[in-house]
Amino acid sequence: MRERLTKLLAEIKEKLETIEDQNSLNVLRSYALGRKSEITNLMAALKDLPPEEKPLMGKLINEAKQKLEAYFETKKANLQAKVLQEKLAKEAVDVTLPGVEFSSGSNHILKTVIEDFENFFIGQGYSIKEGPDVELDYYNFEMLNIAKDHPARAMHDTFYVDAKRLLRSHTSPVQARTMLESAGKPIKIICPGKTYRRDEDDQYHSHQFMQIEGLVIDEDITMADLKGTLLSFIKYYFGEDKEIRLRPSYFPFTEPSVEVDIFDGEKYVEILGAGMVHPNVLKMGGYDPDKVQGFAFGIGLERIAMLKYEIDDIRHFYTNDVRFLNQFKGGKR
Ligand code: DAH
Repeated sequence: MRERLTKLLAEIKEKLETIEDQNSLNVLRSYALGRKSEITNLMAALKDLPPEEKPLMGKLINEAKQKLEAYFETKKANLQAKVLQEKLAKEAVDVTLPGVEFSSGSNHILKTVIEDFENFFIGQGYSIKEGPDVELDYYNFEMLNIAKDHPARAMHDTFYVDAKRLLRSHTSPVQARTMLESAGKPIKIICPGKTYRRDEDDQYHSHQFMQIEGLVIDEDITMADLKGTLLSFIKYYFGEDKEIRLRPSYFPFTEPSVEVDIFDGEKYVEILGAGMVHPNVLKMGGYDPDKVQGFAFGIGLERIAMLKYEIDDIRHFYTNDVRFLNQFKGGKR
């Protein structure tokens, strides 16, 4: 019996050497200690021994069993440590490696300018309107008091889709559309958007540019409201110390009409056209000029941005050079 025990211990020890994973260890464990194992057999054989040998043999078998259990515990711990080591080695992170750079986009500068405008005018109770880029001749001209043979059309030569449709030459057609939609009710809107003209592109001209239109219609609206609105916007946008100058001008859809200049420190620079909505335009839009009045204005967006950010060429806005665009990343300068 002692021999069988010694042999068993040696055999299991040897087999344990070859075990590499937890599963095989479990299989070997039930072979060594399970119900059909040699050690169980030896226990069972105890009862056939002479009584004086029983205590000693019983003790030896128990000791052997404890040894086996200890072998398995040690092996199990070794295997777990090995698995952990491998995992750590595989998942190691080299914190000294250079990081991955994420490129991030931002608003285009013109979008930022539009948002600044909107913030101001929404604060004054205006709402934002939009109109189509491909516009009817009817809204772009007729409804604005510019008949077919009106000389003002020459300055507004644009791209025609067909005899009736064109790329709008200004945002003013949104005035006419809004009047018809509003069915005689008061109006207070601004409309930012793209506009088109048959212009040769150069430092100050682009065949596609942007405007912001403004229109207010209500009872007792006067030229003073127009001037006050424009002045407070200019001060908000360019600074409290800024001054504006109103010069008499002519637009077919306003009477009287003005052009507005801003003093840039050296000279006055023209920034927008404005005026009191012409009675004909009010009538065509479904308003009674004897009961309500309105003022309107149209601002060249790029012109404003060029002044504010000291940009010297309108083409920069549209050529998508990131060296230009990145200067305006992260909002206002
Ligand atoms: N639509 C005009 C243009 O593009 C600008 C303009 C002038 C708009 C006077 C207005 C206005 O609303 O009242 O030349």
